[in-house]
Amino acid sequence: MKQCILLAAILLVAACTRATPPTTVSADYRNPSLPVESRVGALLSRMTLTEKIGQMTQVEKNSIRSEDITELFIGSLLSGAGGYPLPNKAEAWAEMVNGFQERALKTRLGIPLIYGVDAVHGHTNVYGATVFPHNIGLGATRDPDLVERIGRATAVEMIATGIFWNFAPVVAVPQDIRWGRTYEAYSENIELVSTLGAAYIRGLQNTSPQVAATAKHFIGDGGTTWGTSKQNIFRPFMLDQGDTQMDEATLRALFLPPYKAAVDADTLSIMVSFSSWNGTKMHSQKYLLTDVLKGELRFKGFVVSDWQAIDQIPDDYHNDIVTSINAGLDMIMVPYDYHTFITEATRAVEAGEIPMGRIDDAVRRILTVKFRLGLFEHPFADPEALAAVGSDDHRSLARDAVRKSLVLLKNENQALPIAKNMPLIFVGGRAAHDVGIQCGGWTIEWQGKAGNITPGTTILDGIKQAVSADVRVEFNRFGNFDRLTDAQGQPLIGDVGIAVVGEEPYAEGVGDQQDLTLAEEDAALIDRMGAQSKTLIVIIISGRPLILTEHLSKIDGLVAAWLPGTEGGGVADALFGAYPFTGKLPYTWPRSMSQIPMLTEGVGAPLFPFGYGLDVER
Ligand code: BGC
Repeated sequence: MKQCILLAAILLVAACTRATPPTTVSADYRNPSLPVESRVGALLSRMTLTEKIGQMTQVEKNSIRSEDITELFIGSLLSGAGGYPLPNKAEAWAEMVNGFQERALKTRLGIPLIYGVDAVHGHTNVYGATVFPHNIGLGATRDPDLVERIGRATAVEMIATGIFWNFAPVVAVPQDIRWGRTYEAYSENIELVSTLGAAYIRGLQNTSPQVAATAKHFIGDGGTTWGTSKQNIFRPFMLDQGDTQMDEATLRALFLPPYKAAVDADTLSIMVSFSSWNGTKMHSQKYLLTDVLKGELRFKGFVVSDWQAIDQIPDDYHNDIVTSINAGLDMIMVPYDYHTFITEATRAVEAGEIPMGRIDDAVRRILTVKFRLGLFEHPFADPEALAAVGSDDHRSLARDAVRKSLVLLKNENQALPIAKNMPLIFVGGRAAHDVGIQCGGWTIEWQGKAGNITPGTTILDGIKQAVSADVRVEFNRFGNFDRLTDAQGQPLIGDVGIAVVGEEPYAEGVGDQQDLTLAEEDAALIDRMGAQSKTLIVIIISGRPLILTEHLSKIDGLVAAWLPGTEGGGVADALFGAYPFTGKLPYTWPRSMSQIPMLTEGVGAPLFPFGYGLDVER
């Protein structure tokens, strides 16, 4: 009986093989009128192992020897944060990426590269690009349509530079705001993250040509336990890349819904988290990557590793490659020593440690995305899109997002909106006049940087533009206005003081911060300006709630402005009543450090609950 079944099966396979239309094997994969699946099949059937492993290799652009793109059939390059060409101009980006692309198109099969970048709040490695509010601010807007439009605008700016793959959005659901990536996530609220993440993906991917999104970092990156990280870059990480310690039901309940929403929104790629789950690195978790993500969620795009992350699997490099690819990784962000990666991956396949079927699945997924993006038809930058980089239209969209992201936390005696004809306004604080600070991390540089790093409107600029011509606006970064005296030599008192306080830029684990108490200089700024102004408005520029309970009574108007990006004019729009305050807190605002992590049970009432935000009509 068994033999009969076996014979029948063999005959069936043979019949199917014969029945396969020859077009699947010999179809011209270059023909755009054929379905993507046939093009992928046709191309895959022509590829050697070397070409397949090349497709799975992603190299950081400063580490690649250009000739190797052709010689080793490299499938992908990336600019890590701060990986800009010189001069850092959109035109130079386009020239650089086009140059790499030409090398890829010279290969035997002419498979185009897919170039990736972290355009996490606009195409922000590019000088002059529009910088939108970081996701925490977008979480405050509660506006999926706005987020979708931001995704689309970001895609257009990317297309101008020949980059069709964005490592965004972060769809983490942070459980502890001490995490340095809190601001990259929309909210602590699972549903809000799911809705806004999906909206962003739709926006990015609905452009023509299309740009691929990356939901990241799968899974549990916002749920690590303090002190479990082993990384040390500039300073020890505490939460980032640490261990998420919880049972499967909790992991799924907290972190899976945004990925389900992302897959339903057709995200073309997903990046794996540096973190571990109960002590095992995510990059080696076959159950979660293959069974859950690709099986249960039916994710059809490709899975990419994080930066040099497979190296963190505790084994030698050869076995790290075997484990991670067998776990379900499709593309490896190597990103430096690609020669060793290619040699070892090839050796592993030849030795049967990685099955050929797994390699074919990975390459099929990568090629499907490349075909779906239309890279074979338009591999290069679109010069016509260059005018959109940092355009007025995009900046006005960003300004709208800034207005809607502001959360009014206190408004005593109707301090806000400020009348436009207040005779004397004092503006204090370094962050009041610093594009770099208001943009935060992931802007031009990985960690971001204070200063005039890219064109934009500071909050001070915005205030000056908003007030009537005869209003006197005085700025001092220390909030010290003693030198301003009246005819009798008495210090002037401002009708309104606007103190801008907050955090210096940071990114990833460098921003893991044990104490979120407002800095001493900022506390001093509040005191100084409170004494010199009739009404005190405080604006917080930060990537997360900061502890300021003891200062609250000194403040008349308090506004959380998050990391608004280049369009500081949006802050002034609401301050002076041209637009209403409508933002709602995307994170619970703790009363004291003892309440953090806030989401733990039994820590008492917060200073402001999730969803809080006063409405003030204009
Ligand atoms: C980050 C990712 C990012 C990658 C490439 C990593 O350090 O964790 O979010 O996409 O670098 O820049």
